Amino acid sequence: MLNNSGWLHAITAPPTNPQPLTPNPLTPVLTIDGPSGSGKGTIARRVATALGFHLLDSGALYRLVALAGSQQGVAADDQPGHARVARELEVQFGMDGAGEERILLAGTDVTRAIRTETAGAEASRVAAMPPVRSALLSRQHAFAQPPGLVADGRDMGTVVFPGSPLKIYLTASPDERALRRHKQLKDKGLTVTIAGLSQEIRERDLRDSSRPVAPLRPAEDAVILDSTGLTIEQVVDQVLALARSRLPAIS
Ligand code: DC
Repeated sequence: MLNNSGWLHAITAPPTNPQPLTPNPLTPVLTIDGPSGSGKGTIARRVATALGFHLLDSGALYRLVALAGSQQGVAADDQPGHARVARELEVQFGMDGAGEERILLAGTDVTRAIRTETAGAEASRVAAMPPVRSALLSRQHAFAQPPGLVADGRDMGTVVFPGSPLKIYLTASPDERALRRHKQLKDKGLTVTIAGLSQEIRERDLRDSSRPVAPLRPAEDAVILDSTGLTIEQVVDQVLALARSRLPAIS
């Protein structure tokens, strides 16, 4: 149990028992979509912390479904099987005593296991399955709790929270994305080559943007932010300035 071992529910914590709800229209939701390595995850976390909002890392949900599916022996192409896994996913998001994010799958710490490039590629595969996407919808809606939510993913503004008053589409050049991803993985102690990463990023972009359901693309009313050459702080400042002008409850 998280609370008995010093784990804290924090801004990343979802409701413990997600119900099939539509998003609460009174809760402001800021969506940040974009391709792999665009810096969405880092920016979304910083913005959520600055605003005191909850955070939805929707990519983690797809990564968890892929991992749980393989642990349970679900065949790679079994869509109903993966949808069942998505519905039954027993996951807890939280932080440990050192303020590091921790993700538990059925009580086991999978924080690192779901962040490998292989786990990302597997996630991209299950994310192309329509029944998996539907099964995760209500779970994602349940994250929209007061005082607000920053939702990070590929289809946050287009499908999951289409009513969001502020949709950001964050991108960066493929080379810069590969370099950033390389640094991120190296910092986590994982070894990968930049050339291999570039190739994987291109393949994943193609698969994510060409799938028939919820493909990666900016919402029509999204603000497109190209972060190539910008620091994290510069991007966060731009997003916060937009949040202050677009979200009524923020000043
Ligand atoms: O953001 P990420 O790298 O953790 O996402 C892993 C995969 O999940 C990515 O290849 C695409 C998929 N994904 C998705 O299809 N829809 C989302 N909202 C988030 C992620």
